[in-house]
Amino acid sequence: MTTTPTQSYPVSDIDIFDAPVSLNPYAAYRELRDLGPAVRVPSGDYWAVTRYDDIKAVLQNHEVFISGKGTAHNDMFNEPVAGQVVLASDPPVHERLRSHLIDKLSPVAMRRLRSTIQQIVDDIIDAVIAQPSFDAVPAIAQAVPMKVVGDLMGLPEEGRTLLLKGADAVFSSFAPLSPAIAERIPHAQAYFAWIDEVAAQGAFTPGSWGDALNDAVVRGLMSREEMTATISALLVAGFDTTVNSIAASLRFFAEEPGLWRALQEDASKLPAVFEETVRLESPVVAFFRRTSCDTEIGGVPIPADARILVVYASGNRDERHYPDPDQFRIERNPVDHLAMGSGIHACAGSALARVEAVSVTSSLLQRIETIELAGEPVRRYNPIVRGLESLPLSVTLKDRS
Ligand code: HEM
Repeated sequence: MTTTPTQSYPVSDIDIFDAPVSLNPYAAYRELRDLGPAVRVPSGDYWAVTRYDDIKAVLQNHEVFISGKGTAHNDMFNEPVAGQVVLASDPPVHERLRSHLIDKLSPVAMRRLRSTIQQIVDDIIDAVIAQPSFDAVPAIAQAVPMKVVGDLMGLPEEGRTLLLKGADAVFSSFAPLSPAIAERIPHAQAYFAWIDEVAAQGAFTPGSWGDALNDAVVRGLMSREEMTATISALLVAGFDTTVNSIAASLRFFAEEPGLWRALQEDASKLPAVFEETVRLESPVVAFFRRTSCDTEIGGVPIPADARILVVYASGNRDERHYPDPDQFRIERNPVDHLAMGSGIHACAGSALARVEAVSVTSSLLQRIETIELAGEPVRRYNPIVRGLESLPLSVTLKDRS
């Protein structure tokens, strides 16, 4: 890796999307942070923003750092969705598209759904812990969001597993095009074809999100294309992200000395554990923005129509903001983390993500005495979302007699 501070701006050839860096990225993030507030990466034709304060400033300034041309690197992936999905739109379109989600995903709506979600989670956990050891990625981390989000959207059961590879493929397509991304494209296509088919048939469970969105089309509040794009975006946004946050927390329970016992003694720390987990192991690594005019980031001049890479996962480990950023600290409760973005595009599903994660942990707390690794965890390579392929765990049950 070579890095060159030039007269006016720092330049680097660090490629955070490349598999070896992506699988173990924290030294590279630190190097980029130390180079400056915005670092030119000529090989990818973008500027990397990796410090906490600068990331926050970019995300808060949606008029200059726009999403409406897409938040992926490649225009081949941006063009079909730009201005049609909430993530890839600017006001006023953004407000209209987001308004269709707010009633479904608000904290109030989540409070109403909490016990339903807890029941789904309890059933999954009861079945899993009947065995003393298991792979927690498919058995818990994937099973919970697939059932929760699949049911909320009102999707037919058959076909839901297309989400596994479909979400992985869609997320990876936000990074600069590479052979690893190209070979995933068929999975994204299969997934989109299934969503199109379900939407065309209107085959959603009555009262579900899908049903409500269909109704919005009938009442002329959104187009059919926007509806399909919204369903697809919700499913993708609500799947791999949550899968990875649940898997990361289970790994911390097994590996962090004293963490499981501390939670057993004081379950009120549960929400703080979720925040610290997504700070340290941010499921979404980075998204792009475009500049709408000449501007600057932390004093570094940036031209109009430049690609800006916003690296949430680096900001969350910025030593300028968090003391001992690489340590898991249960008492930290970092509610200001960037794992779910900031500004008008901040995660619309954060309340749901929290309910799912907290439900998993509280279900386990009621049932499990000890939780340990039963083998080496295996990381999964995806340039945009950070997660595990497998997490072998062994547990001992509580005496509930
Ligand atoms: C731990 C789990 C999650 C993480 C880490 C996460 C992360 C993020 C991030 C970083 C953004 C900001 C994108 C940007 O800056 O452009 C975002 C936006 C979004 N997320 Fe999440 N997310 C999670 C769970 C969910 C869930 C469960 C849903 C819904 C089912 C969801 C739906 C959305 C939507 C719709 C947006 C776009 C919001 C907008 O553009 O206004 N997310 N998420």
